[in-house]
Amino acid sequence: MHSLFMALVLGALTSALAQNLSAIRWVDCAQNVPIPLQGTNFTVPLPSTLHCGQLDVPMDYAKPLSESNNITLGFTMFRPNNSQGLINFNPGGPGQEVASYSWEIALNLDRASWFAGLEGYDILAIDTRGYWSSNALNCSQGNWMISSSLPASEAELTAFQTPVRAFAQSCIDLSTPPGIVQFVSTNEVIQDWDQVRAALGYDVMHHFGISYGTYYGAKYAHAFPEHVGRFVLDAVFPPNVSNVDLLSKQYAALDRSLTRSDVYCLNDTTCPFHSQGKGAVLEAFQNVMDLAGSGSPATSGVSAADVRFFAGINYIAGDPNFPLFNTALFEALQGNWSLFNYTTAGPIFTGAAGSLATTYCLDYHVDDNTFEGYANILKVGAESDPLGAQFLFFLILHLLCTAWPYHAASNPAVPVNASMVLVTADFDYTTPTELATFEWMQQANNSVLVVRHGDDHGTYNVPGPARDAFINFLATGTLPAPVNETFVTVYEPGSVRAPVPDPYSVPVGVEAGDMDE
Ligand SMILES: *[C@@H]1O[C@H](CO)[C@@H](O)[C@H](O)[C@H]1NC(C)=O
Ligand SMILES: *[C@@H]1O[C@H](CO)[C@@H](O)[C@H](O)[C@H]1NC(C)=O
Ligand SMILES: *[C@@H]1O[C@H](CO)[C@@H](O)[C@H](O)[C@H]1NC(C)=O
Ligand SMILES: *[C@@H]1O[C@H](CO)[C@@H](O)[C@H](O)[C@H]1NC(C)=O
Ligand SMILES: *[C@@H]1O[C@H](CO)[C@@H](O)[C@H](O)[C@H]1NC(C)=O
Ligand SMILES: *[C@@H]1O[C@H](CO)[C@@H](O)[C@H](O)[C@H]1NC(C)=O
Ligand SMILES: *[C@@H]1O[C@H](CO)[C@@H](O)[C@H](O)[C@H]1NC(C)=O
Ligand SMILES: *[C@@H]1O[C@H](CO)[C@@H](O)[C@H](O)[C@H]1NC(C)=O
Ligand SMILES: *[C@@H]1O[C@H](CO)[C@@H](O)[C@H](O)[C@H]1NC(C)=O
Ligand SMILES: *[C@@H]1O[C@H](CO)[C@@H](O)[C@H](O)[C@H]1NC(C)=O
Ligand SMILES: *[C@@H]1O[C@H](CO)[C@@H](O)[C@H](O)[C@H]1NC(C)=O
Ligand SMILES: *[C@@H]1O[C@H](CO)[C@@H](O)[C@H](O)[C@H]1NC(C)=O
Repeated sequence: MHSLFMALVLGALTSALAQNLSAIRWVDCAQNVPIPLQGTNFTVPLPSTLHCGQLDVPMDYAKPLSESNNITLGFTMFRPNNSQGLINFNPGGPGQEVASYSWEIALNLDRASWFAGLEGYDILAIDTRGYWSSNALNCSQGNWMISSSLPASEAELTAFQTPVRAFAQSCIDLSTPPGIVQFVSTNEVIQDWDQVRAALGYDVMHHFGISYGTYYGAKYAHAFPEHVGRFVLDAVFPPNVSNVDLLSKQYAALDRSLTRSDVYCLNDTTCPFHSQGKGAVLEAFQNVMDLAGSGSPATSGVSAADVRFFAGINYIAGDPNFPLFNTALFEALQGNWSLFNYTTAGPIFTGAAGSLATTYCLDYHVDDNTFEGYANILKVGAESDPLGAQFLFFLILHLLCTAWPYHAASNPAVPVNASMVLVTADFDYTTPTELATFEWMQQANNSVLVVRHGDDHGTYNVPGPARDAFINFLATGTLPAPVNETFVTVYEPGSVRAPVPDPYSVPVGVEAGDMDE
């Protein structure tokens, strides 16, 4: 009943807006170089395939577009002659820079390889609202720095939250137009996408979404089913997961990824623990944490919490750097702790986390915003973290959201009827593989699930059969056929996924996604 009502309201809203759609302003790309590419020496003229545009959209979609309810989206496109269709690309974040990707393709820079096989399509790269060229928020980090020690008492939780509130208030005070901080959630992002799609004159939009781009993608597919073409969700982050489940699954995934560093060492003759056999890296991790926790001056001020931060964020999150993690453990045991130095990493991490919070917390439902709720997450999470790694990426985001002034009122299921391709890697720590299974079974059960056997957050940059399967789907519309091979298993709708394999049973190496950057 409730969701039907919402669907009717949304339908009425979109048809009303359609009449008032503003027109795209095409702009000179040379005068609108994306920030990450500024300072790069391009050959001029820029390729004719590269296009740069802007579109004015309502800040608040509940009200009409007007002088006072108006933000400008920035986007770029790679446009070949005789385009076969529109692919919207989003690398996630939330809030990662997007606009430079069309430049990468048009100029054949490093990341053009992510799109190999899709050169016949218009590839659209819209900076997400609130970030980069799409009305970036303006916030002040000041001297706020997230501690590597997780809050362990109600007083420590309050001490964590106080500067977060100040940071959020700075965003509210410094950003324009006034009120924008409440309107940078996924609910707005997907309407932005639909406005750009319509302004470009396309009825159907394909989507290549990575990480948080899969969350946007599922929400778009649910809200605008009539415009959904081929949707690829790579490294799935699903709606409708409880806080406790999200964090427990990520603890399990962190422990698996740390174990993969041991597997990597077994096959890496340059690993300092190579000759010590199975389990040596995990034992070294325990020894380093114990030493850092002992208070000995020999650790140069590095605490056990600092070691856990580096394990959970610097070396293992995203695409893990197993050789560097193994080296860091070894050097610490030799008395050189510089690879666990939180003094330099802390401010950078704080800035990055604060930037994610502006969208993430609007999307996130805090299930129990009391100290007891937080303590329960730690208690349940510890059961999935026998290695005692503790410092978890999504736990920091959860803590930020406990102090953020705006939250989602609920976290409903987002059923998608379309036949999408969901992609996951067994040992992805950032978006744990169980979450992909959950979305596939509970919300996207007409979809095909591609399971890559190996490491890394996302398959977009891992050449091999899993990537081939989804690129071919985007290029041709043919859903991947079921297979079961060393580096990939493809599951048809209605089939049953095998349990996540033992980390020691899957090979390491380039084909497993390791050290491919
Ligand atoms: C840019 O490249 C051109 C041609 O390769 C060269 O002549 C010019 O000096 C370069 N400019 C800068 C600022 O590096
Ligand atoms: C669209 O424009 C018409 C005429 O200018 C106006 O009456 C209406 O309120 C606008 N609707 C929206 C949703 O902006
Ligand atoms: C949006 O704002 C810009 C700059 O303030 C203005 O030039 C433009 O006309 C506005 N668009 C609409 C539809 O009000
Ligand atoms: C696209 O078509 C235009 C005009 O026909 C032509 O000048 C241009 O070389 C073509 N571009 C490519 C990449 O084929
Ligand atoms: C952001 O806020 C600072 C004040 O901290 C101000 O100096 C700056 O002009 C603002 N930038 C924008 C783009 O609004
Ligand atoms: C400590 O390790 C760092 C990082 O590997 C290295 O750059 C540095 O030279 C080492 N310091 C000493 C004294 O060996
Ligand atoms: C960490 O970095 C700070 C400043 O960059 C330096 O003073 C300190 O000695 C470093 N600590 C370790 C353990 O490397
Ligand atoms: C999942 O969605 C269902 C239906 O929308 C809702 O009843 C349930 O509370 C949601 N679960 C969570 C964890 O939010
Ligand atoms: C749902 O998807 C199936 C298979 O793709 C299709 O046959 C059916 O028409 C769809 N139903 C709706 C309501 O869109
Ligand atoms: C795939 O093959 C492996 C090893 O041959 C087997 O253990 C697993 O059950 C198979 N999975 C499926 C889904 O058939
Ligand atoms: C997907 O779920 C719907 C609703 O529970 C069910 O009717 C349908 O048979 C399921 N499809 C598949 C392929 O399992
Ligand atoms: C082991 O390492 C070698 C050399 O790096 C690599 O080529 C190979 O794929 C790895 N083997 C396995 C089973 O992971």
